[in-house]
Amino acid sequence: MSLNIELLESSFAQIKERQAEFTEYFYKNLFNDYPQVKPLFNNIHMEKQQEKLFQSLVLTVDSLRNPDVLTGALKGLGTRHVKYGVLPEHYPMVGSSLLKTFAFCLQEGWTQSTHQSWIEAYAAITQLMLDGAEYPVEILNPCT
Ligand code: HEM
Repeated sequence: MSLNIELLESSFAQIKERQAEFTEYFYKNLFNDYPQVKPLFNNIHMEKQQEKLFQSLVLTVDSLRNPDVLTGALKGLGTRHVKYGVLPEHYPMVGSSLLKTFAFCLQEGWTQSTHQSWIEAYAAITQLMLDGAEYPVEILNPCT
């Protein structure tokens, strides 16, 4: 899949100017829409977590033209998320909250093509993070 890097970069440039608002709304959306993930963050310092999440999004967008760096960083992030208790089924929840927050922050700048570009980017991010994660086979294929 080829990502629309120009659109991802230009839309994220606007988000970058609104870090505090973005991260606050992101976790608000996540916890309101998917309260089942809240316990994962029970002992987490949320202000630090907001900063870390945002910086990893900055690194991701900055590395879109450097696939080796991007792949290594996201696989490593995925590996660490197994230890945090994150399951594959949680990824679409975070994706939907991220996109909802993008839409809220970008307002009329959130066009159909920006939306589509971020859907594809988040699918690629998820795939790389899950590639780096070693889940027991029964978690990946619960019906087998
Ligand atoms: C685009 C996808 C995601 C990104 C960019 C991301 C980014 C991060 C970053 C940078 C950290 C800081 C710790 C570290 O670097 O290892 C972190 C921690 C964490 N993430 Fe994510 N994450 C993503 C997906 C998820 C998902 C799907 C969940 C599940 C709801 C999740 C839950 C957590 C939790 C609970 C921590 C705290 C870990 C701890 O300090 O004990 N993340 N995330």
